[in-house]
Amino acid sequence: RPEIEKFISDNKMTSDEVSKSYSKFYEYLKEKNKFDNNEKTALSGHEPFLIMNCGYADVVYRETEEVIKRRKKAEFVKRLNRNSIVRDMTIKKASFENFNAGTDEEKRALAFAKEVSEYYYTGGEGNTVVSGPAGTGKSHLAMSILKDCLQHTDLTVIFASWSEVLHLIKDSFDNKDSFYSTEYFMEVFRNTDLLVID
Ligand SMILES: Nc1ncnc2c1ncn2[C@@H]1O[C@H](COP(=O)(O)OP(=O)(O)OP(=O)(O)O)[C@@H](O)[C@H]1O
Ligand SMILES: [Mg+2]
Repeated sequence: RPEIEKFISDNKMTSDEVSKSYSKFYEYLKEKNKFDNNEKTALSGHEPFLIMNCGYADVVYRETEEVIKRRKKAEFVKRLNRNSIVRDMTIKKASFENFNAGTDEEKRALAFAKEVSEYYYTGGEGNTVVSGPAGTGKSHLAMSILKDCLQHTDLTVIFASWSEVLHLIKDSFDNKDSFYSTEYFMEVFRNTDLLVID
């Protein structure tokens, strides 16, 4: 196989090294064939590569772009959800991309939210207070800011539906097994870079 020949000549392998690498070449070809035919490889979603290891060939498996993308997305969601309390499930899906900026007011709100996001992900500090009529997208844009910041930095973020937080704390007074004590929230909120109190 030309790729094996190339590997041998690139690494200037001696015939002794080549013969000691037969089993690895065999493994590589077998797995590479499976990978190219979209069959399950030894490590699913990973592509086999040949490397030199102490004078012999060895096979390593690297994640494909698709696996990396899937893993990054899962990590992203985990970072956002770790301590968030979101009561309105529609807000979980909110982002700048799905904010409908039809009216001038909505356009201004979106531009403002993007400015706020950039302010925080470039190191800005302090609070931003947003008020306005019900159902106009305050929570939507607040969640969008957190997601945008996560995409630009390693800041830790939390979205907290405040009425739900109060409910959980109140519930913990009578329920000694409850995880959600006042101390728990104080600890979590204090150690977060960016906190939305909704
Ligand atoms: N411009 C918009 N584009 C897309 N979805 C929107 C827009 N405005 C609001 N929504 C959606 O409508 C619902 C209500 O919006 P949201 O909860 O953000 O309003 P709010 O200003 O926080 O209201 P409240 O004061 O009652 O908390 C959400 O599901 C949100 O995703
Ligand atoms: Mg709201």
